Amino acid sequence: MTKTSNQMWGGRFAAGPDAIMEAINASIGFDKRLAAQDIAGSRAHAAMLAAQGILTDSDAQAIREGLLTVLSEIEGGTFEFSTALEDIHMNVEARLKEIIGEPAGRLHTARSRNDQVATDFRLWVRDQLDAAEAGLLALIRALLAQAEAGADWVMPGFTHLQTAQPVTWGHHMMAYVEMFGRDLSRMRDARVRMNESPLGAAALAGTSFPIDRHATAAALGFDRPCANSLDAVSDRDFALEFLGAASICAMHLSRFAEELVIWSTAQFRFVTLSDRFSTGSSIMPQKKNPDAAELIRAKVGRIMGANVALMMVMKGLALTYSKDMQEDKEQVFDAADNLMLALAAMEGMVRDMTANRDRLAAAAGSGFSTATDLADWLVRVLGLPFREAHHVTGSLVALAEKKGCDLPDLSLADMQSVHKGITADVFGVLGVENSVNSRMSYGGTAPAQVRAQIARWKERLA
Ligand code: ARG
Repeated sequence: MTKTSNQMWGGRFAAGPDAIMEAINASIGFDKRLAAQDIAGSRAHAAMLAAQGILTDSDAQAIREGLLTVLSEIEGGTFEFSTALEDIHMNVEARLKEIIGEPAGRLHTARSRNDQVATDFRLWVRDQLDAAEAGLLALIRALLAQAEAGADWVMPGFTHLQTAQPVTWGHHMMAYVEMFGRDLSRMRDARVRMNESPLGAAALAGTSFPIDRHATAAALGFDRPCANSLDAVSDRDFALEFLGAASICAMHLSRFAEELVIWSTAQFRFVTLSDRFSTGSSIMPQKKNPDAAELIRAKVGRIMGANVALMMVMKGLALTYSKDMQEDKEQVFDAADNLMLALAAMEGMVRDMTANRDRLAAAAGSGFSTATDLADWLVRVLGLPFREAHHVTGSLVALAEKKGCDLPDLSLADMQSVHKGITADVFGVLGVENSVNSRMSYGGTAPAQVRAQIARWKERLA
């Protein structure tokens, strides 16, 4: 059975597409998510065509109102999407024709689906950059609240996941504030760069109609029209930049999620996650699992995957539009959905979680975490070269390990057996509080430094 040819472009076709052709070609299953952007773009286009005398005011009026009817049908869930009409652009236009008749056919004057989809997708991605910014701001605020509450709580700082030096809880939280702050600025940068309108580039070469691209750009909130029509229809950098920024952000989320997984174990107990952001086990009644953190940790895979997938789609495409580019949307939709969900889940977890101050403090002093302070004391007070101080401290650590105690538990006699110049004064630097308080260098872990960074961020966000 031969179907009739496509009502939008089938003029030269005698037969309709094979069912498999229709299945591989159609994008309506996913690009229906662009409906609001498509209708906004078309309404701006129609208004501009009328202002330029290309459409009559009454046709433009009918089109603009009819499009609002279509939008309300889509939002109300009564719109019947058709695979035969391929994509959101043709679905909307076909329905517009049913509603307003002949003037609908004039909407596509001086335009192509190529500039149309590029415009719709830019508008959609722009909204996601804004949503990511909002999600990041909320997460940063939650981290700032944690940092403020525990600006001077001591905990172990790690390198190689081995105890390194004592740090403060606030300092650790603020490290993530810096990371998510860079993610925020990446989203903002991308938004500035991408905010140009492809509309009016038409199929690829521009149009012979006297259109006003500046007017449609302004109506859609773009800063200006894209300057080159070939580039306008074939550029997907804006989507790649979003995916790149999203991938880095998801990587940061994943690192923090990993820490929360470790910290919430019975062995660490650095934090207690709230019931609201934990799950139980169907067989082990005692379990409280950090599933949200684990899922956030995993999300980077699909988000980075989307980034790679779209990069591969784009890399070999000769100018300008090729249908390959229809594959841009699902990747970006999936990545955006999962990034927003991960940001919201992380924000919720951080808001709700309780840092176990006593556990953090107990762990802070273990693992000879003040060994560097001891070495620094040997340099500062006894005038030893740092390398020698390092060696002496290493011997003291070995001695403490042999005795099964921590550095502050060694007696002065023990200390002097390794280096006879050591005085009782040394015990002053072996405490973790002293250790963190002494790290007053800019950006260091001292509570005073941490509080200064918190204040700087609060000012920045105000
Ligand atoms: N659905 C298409 C896409 O997403 C719209 C553009 C179609 N353009 C074309 N020349 N066939 O890319």
